[in-house]
Amino acid sequence: MDAFEAIATKLDVREFASKKVPGEVKRKVLEAARLTASSRNSQHWRFILVQDRANLKRLAADSTSGKWVEGADFAVMILTDPTVNGNMIDAGRALQDMELAAWDSGVASGIYVGVVEDAVRRDYAIPDGLRVSAILGFGYPKRRIVGRKNRKPLEELVFPERYGERLQPSNLA
Ligand SMILES: Cc1cc2nc3c(=O)[nH]c(=O)nc-3n(C[C@H](O)[C@H](O)[C@H](O)COP(=O)(O)O)c2cc1C
Repeated sequence: MDAFEAIATKLDVREFASKKVPGEVKRKVLEAARLTASSRNSQHWRFILVQDRANLKRLAADSTSGKWVEGADFAVMILTDPTVNGNMIDAGRALQDMELAAWDSGVASGIYVGVVEDAVRRDYAIPDGLRVSAILGFGYPKRRIVGRKNRKPLEELVFPERYGERLQPSNLA
C-alpha cells in the first residue's frame, strides 16, 4: 500500500477481531512513532504499550470516551511534555504515523482522548511532567472496512491565494 492509499482508506475502527497482532507489527507501529519528527527534535514524548487484557480493561474503565479500547489487541498511550511548544502537533504526527504503519499491515486503529485524569495517572504510573495526549487502540478489524470517508470537498476547505477565493480546476492543473 502506498502512503496516499493508506491515508485514503484508513477509517477509525472501534471493534476488533480476537486475532492476535504479531509482535513484528507492534514493533513497526512503535518504530513509526520513534521515527516521527518532533519539535526541535526534542523527542519529549513517551509511549506506553498496553497489551495485558486486565490493563486494557482498566484503560477502558479509566476512559470517558474510549470504552471500546477494551476490545483492542493492544493500545498505545501517547504522553507529551505540555511545556514544549507544539507538543500536540508532535503527538498528532506520531499517532498518525503509528496508525498508517499499522494499516499498511491490515491492522486497524481508533483514537480517544477522554480519560479520567487521576485514575489513568495512578494506574499507569504517569509522571507529573507528562500529559496523556491521546490513546490509540489497535487490532484487526472485526468487519471488512468498506466505508467511505465523510469529508468536506476540497472546494470548501482550500482557497487559492487568499481566504475565500474559489478553488478552480485550473489551480491544480
Ligand atoms: C483529536 C481527535 C480526538 C478524538 N477523540 C475521540 C474520542 O475521544 N473517542 C472516540 O471514540 N473517537 C475519537 N476520535 C475519532 C473521531 O471521531 C474520528 O477520527 C472521526 O470520526 C473520523 O473517523 P473516520 O476516519 O473513520 O471517518 C477522535 C479523533 C481525533 C482526531
